[in-house]
Amino acid sequence: MNSNIDRISNLPSSLLVIIASFLPFKEAARTSVLSKQWLNIWRDAMHIQFNENFVKSDEPEENRKVQRDVFINFARQFIANYSQQVIKTLGLACSKPGDFLSDIQNILMFASSRDVRELGLDFSDPTWRELALENHQAAFELPLLVYEHGQVLRSLKLFSCSFKVSNFSNFCALKTLSLGWIKINMGSISAILDSCPLLENLSLKKCWDIENFEISKPGSRLKSLVLEKCDIAYDGVLIEGPKLQFFKFSGNVGEFLLKNQSDLVKAELDFEMETEFDEIGLFLYNLLQDLFAAQVLTVCSVFLQIVPSGDEPLGLQAPIDVRHLILKTALHINEFCGIKFMLRSCPHLEILTIDIVPANILPDYGAPYPFNPHGFWSKDLMAEECVTSTLKAVNVKGFTGMMNELQVLRYLLHSGHAMEELNLYVSGEGGSNGETRGFYMGRAQQVLQFKKASRNLNIAVL
Ligand SMILES: *[C@@H]1O[C@H](CO)[C@@H](O)[C@H](O)[C@H]1NC(C)=O
Ligand SMILES: *[C@@H]1O[C@H](CO)[C@@H](O)[C@H](O)[C@H]1NC(C)=O
Ligand SMILES: *[C@@H]1O[C@H](CO)[C@@H](O)[C@H](O)[C@H]1NC(C)=O
Ligand SMILES: *[C@@H]1O[C@H](CO)[C@@H](O)[C@H](O)[C@H]1NC(C)=O
Repeated sequence: MNSNIDRISNLPSSLLVIIASFLPFKEAARTSVLSKQWLNIWRDAMHIQFNENFVKSDEPEENRKVQRDVFINFARQFIANYSQQVIKTLGLACSKPGDFLSDIQNILMFASSRDVRELGLDFSDPTWRELALENHQAAFELPLLVYEHGQVLRSLKLFSCSFKVSNFSNFCALKTLSLGWIKINMGSISAILDSCPLLENLSLKKCWDIENFEISKPGSRLKSLVLEKCDIAYDGVLIEGPKLQFFKFSGNVGEFLLKNQSDLVKAELDFEMETEFDEIGLFLYNLLQDLFAAQVLTVCSVFLQIVPSGDEPLGLQAPIDVRHLILKTALHINEFCGIKFMLRSCPHLEILTIDIVPANILPDYGAPYPFNPHGFWSKDLMAEECVTSTLKAVNVKGFTGMMNELQVLRYLLHSGHAMEELNLYVSGEGGSNGETRGFYMGRAQQVLQFKKASRNLNIAVL
C-alpha cells in the first residue's frame, strides 16, 4: 500500500490531473489508481484527451510555460508508447501552440494514421473573455495532413484554428462541426454546408465577420444549430430549409426569422449579453412564434425583461406548444411581466423549471404596464390556463426562499389544480448575510404550509 502511494506521489502531479480530466477515465482513475495495471488500462483506451486545463491561468507565465512543457512532453511519450491501431477520439487543448508546432504536428499525424473519427483542436486561451467584443487571431493553422485523412472524420472541433474552406470537401462524412474563436463569413459557412452534405450538427462560438446569419438550403440535413456569442454585425438570423430539432442562441437580441421549423424539439435562448433595455419585445415575440413547435424551451432573465415590451404585453396571440419551460431567472420584479407573458403563451405547459441564477437586471428597464409588485402574484388574480389545468411539475433550482420565490410558489400551489410534484432544490451557496443551506431548508418548510389546490401533490425538499 505504502509503496503504491509512493509510486503515485512520484508521478508528476500534472500527469495525474491530465488523467483525471479524461472523462471516461475518471472512474478508472478513482477505482484503480492504486493498481499496477491502471496505466495500461488507460493506454489502451480509444478516447484520448490531451487537455492543458491543469495549467493555472493565475500563475506567472514562466510557471505556466514549465507546466505546458511537462504536458506536451507527456503527450509525446504517450503517443510514442501507444500500441492500439485505431483511436476513436482525439482531443487536444493547448493555448500556446506556437511553442510546440512540431509536437502538435506529430500528435495530428498520430491521430490521422489511426483513422481518428472525432478530432477536437482547441487553441483558444482560457483568459480570453467570452462576453467582451474580443477577437483574436487564430493561434494555429490546420495542417494539410488533416484534410488528407479527412474522409473518415465524423466530428471536428476547431477553436482558434484556421482552415481552408476550399479543402473542406475532404470532410465529406462529417456529421458534427464546431468552430470557435475564428473569423469566418457567411459565404464560407455556406460553402462548408455545401461541402459536407451529411452535416447534422453545427455549432459556432465566438466567431466573427458575420453580417447576418443566413442559412437557406432546402434539403439540408442540419438538425442542430448552436450560435454562441458570435459577433453578428446586423444581428439578423434567418433559417430556412434545414428542419432543425435543436436551436440554441446566445448573443444580442436581433431580428430572427426561422421559417417553418415544425420539427423543432428543443430551443435555448440566452440574451444575457444585452446591456440596454430597448423596447424590442416584438423581435422576441416573433422569434417565439417561429419556435412554435418546441417542446422544451429555455429562456434567460433578459428575455423575460424584454419580451412583454412589444405591442402585445400580455402574451402571444397564437400560443406555442411548449411542454417544459425552463426560466433562468433571479425572480426579480423586472422579470414578473415576462414570466406571466410566458405562462399565458404556453397553454399546454406541464413542467416549469425555475432555475435561480444571478441575472443581468437591465438598469433602464421600463414595465410594459403599471403593476404593484407586492400584489402581482396575489391569489385573487386570474390564473393562467396552464397553471390551473395542465401544469404537473414545478422544479425550483437554487431555492433560497426569498420573498419573490415564496410569492410565486404560493401562487402556483394555490392555482395548480393538476400539480403532482414540487421539487425544491435548495441552494448550496451561502448568501451575502451569512445564510446557509440549513437556513434555506428552514424557509422551504414554509412552502409546505401553503394552501394547495391539488389533492395529490408531492413536495420534495432536496
Ligand atoms: C512510455 O514508455 C516509457 C518506457 O517504457 C516509460 O518510461 C514512460 O513512462 C511511458 N510514458 C507514458 C506517458 O506512458
Ligand atoms: C486543397 O485545395 C486546393 C485547391 O483549393 C487543392 O489544390 C489542394 O490539392 C487541396 N488539398 C487537399 C489536401 O485536399
Ligand atoms: C448532434 O447534437 C445533438 C444535440 O447536441 C446530440 O445529441 C447528437 O448526438 C449530435 N449528433 C451527432 C451526429 O453528433
Ligand atoms: C413546411 O414543412 C412542411 C413539412 O415538411 C411542408 O409540408 C410545408 O409545405 C412547409 N411549408 C412551407 C410554407 O414551406
